[in-house]
Amino acid sequence: MVLSDLSGLLACLCFISATVAQIVFENSAQQSLRTNHVNKTEMFAWAGDGPNGLFTPLESLSLLKEDQFTTMRHPSFPKYSVRIKKSDFCDPTVNAYTGYIDIEARHLFFYFFESRNDPAKDDVIFWTNGGPGCSSSLGLFFELGPCRVLDESGAKIHPESWNTNANIFFVDQPIGVGFSYADYGESVGTTEEAAKDIAAFVAIFFENFSHFKGRAFHMAGESYGGRYVPLFASAVYDQNAGMIEAGLTPINLTSVMIGNGLTDRYSMFTAYYEMTCTSASLSPVLDIGTCVTMKQTLSRCEKWSRESCIDQYDYINCGAAAAFCTNAIAVPYRLTGLNPYDISIPCGGGPSDLCYPETRYIRQFLDDPSLRSKIGVDSSVPTNFSSCNSEVNLAFGLTQDILHETPTYVSALLERGVRVLIYVGDLDWICNWIGNEKWTLGLEWTGQAEFASTPLREWTVDGKKAGKTRSAGKFTFATIQDAGHMVPYNKPKESLQMVQRWLAGEEL
Ligand SMILES: *[C@@H]1O[C@H](CO)[C@@H](O)[C@H](O)[C@H]1NC(C)=O
Ligand SMILES: *[C@@H]1O[C@H](CO)[C@@H](O)[C@H](O)[C@H]1NC(C)=O
Ligand SMILES: *[C@@H]1O[C@H](CO)[C@@H](O)[C@H](O)[C@H]1NC(C)=O
Ligand SMILES: *[C@@H]1O[C@H](CO)[C@@H](O)[C@H](O)[C@H]1NC(C)=O
Repeated sequence: MVLSDLSGLLACLCFISATVAQIVFENSAQQSLRTNHVNKTEMFAWAGDGPNGLFTPLESLSLLKEDQFTTMRHPSFPKYSVRIKKSDFCDPTVNAYTGYIDIEARHLFFYFFESRNDPAKDDVIFWTNGGPGCSSSLGLFFELGPCRVLDESGAKIHPESWNTNANIFFVDQPIGVGFSYADYGESVGTTEEAAKDIAAFVAIFFENFSHFKGRAFHMAGESYGGRYVPLFASAVYDQNAGMIEAGLTPINLTSVMIGNGLTDRYSMFTAYYEMTCTSASLSPVLDIGTCVTMKQTLSRCEKWSRESCIDQYDYINCGAAAAFCTNAIAVPYRLTGLNPYDISIPCGGGPSDLCYPETRYIRQFLDDPSLRSKIGVDSSVPTNFSSCNSEVNLAFGLTQDILHETPTYVSALLERGVRVLIYVGDLDWICNWIGNEKWTLGLEWTGQAEFASTPLREWTVDGKKAGKTRSAGKFTFATIQDAGHMVPYNKPKESLQMVQRWLAGEEL
């Protein structure tokens, strides 16, 4: 009973439950989809540098309309197209665009904001939130977007937005999440499947908006993004060979950034003990009896996981091991009522609030029919916005997606020259800094010895300590002091400084 309670409560910036009995997907009947008539002459008219922003074709500023979508296709990706429109909202100082990536019957919603600095030169960032099953609107409106919705007064400009000097995407993925939808109830339950759609989207986008060709591209995410982003970036990287062969410009994948990620599930179990029973971040939060029991089950959890998940993967055994570990090591913290995303505060709000009552204002904002119509949300999307989709979460649970290998993708990216930033707010419990430090130190790659022997040092913002960091070669680990799971929410200034230094290729 605790577990079902748990998975509900955790819904679900970071997925924890590994025992899922059986799920029946209800295919909500979908109708009335795309009715937009596409004018083929206009469709292929993209080119040139309009004065009005990167997406504006030379000939006619009106081609990208606010009141209807324009569709882009690419012959190399016959099953894919992108519907995009101008959407004047959130940040009046830049051009904003929204739309859908259409993959036959699957439709992924995205927001795109140009840089506040120099859109024609600045890097491009891709952002996804985690879950699995949670909408990137949380990242946009709660954390790092050009506007934030933190109270009933609605959207307010966010001065420390990550589009300060970068162009940025927020994608609701996979299908079923946020404003994304599927025509016939299709679903995605693995990161590998999700990665194919993302890689194709990235290729179409860069190919058709030729201003961006060759532009430095960074893929970023949070929480379950710790699994998504390494696989998404690998798919984009591997796709480049095919793009070159087809005579296209490869994507200039420059870095990945992962915030409070769940990249290695296994090191997180051990880390839960340290977070709650030692002074690793704050003083111990669990009582001595509970800590002793946890410590005793820890070695069993580690041994069982190693044997049935890591050395040799066995679906049933691995799932059982993960359930055992969750029960023994994660549940005691849940029972404290503390916030899983910040050990310094209680979990606030109702069951849909993700422990932050403020998230309800984002849902209200995204429920508004006039906003939906402005940004082009399809009419088949449910009228009540859900920050996280529990069916998607369960689908990933069924495939044990998180129990599959992820850190090796990070090594593979590093070996190919892609820079990797792992940053962690040090008050987060669920995807905490201890587990993240552990896997980064243990990661096998050419620079491992140098990385592992580099001590943590302080990094500062305006002369004040912002956290700790270590780097070797293209790999950087950093903590953000006094921040929880959603670092840019707690520490907007420090997180922007961090990103700016990272994009500029500077030390933190
Ligand atoms: C399509 O758009 C072009 C350019 O705006 C226009 O000249 C042409 O008449 C349009 N065709 C149709 C069928 O609407
Ligand atoms: C997308 O790019 C391809 C290849 O450059 C081109 O053939 C196609 O017309 C472009 N489509 C649009 C809508 O720009
Ligand atoms: C990729 O981006 C980096 C950083 O802006 C730049 O130095 C490099 O020349 C770009 N590479 C290509 C092939 O365009
Ligand atoms: C949607 O939200 C409204 C207002 O909060 C509520 O009355 C209604 O029951 C909700 N509908 C569904 C299907 O949850």
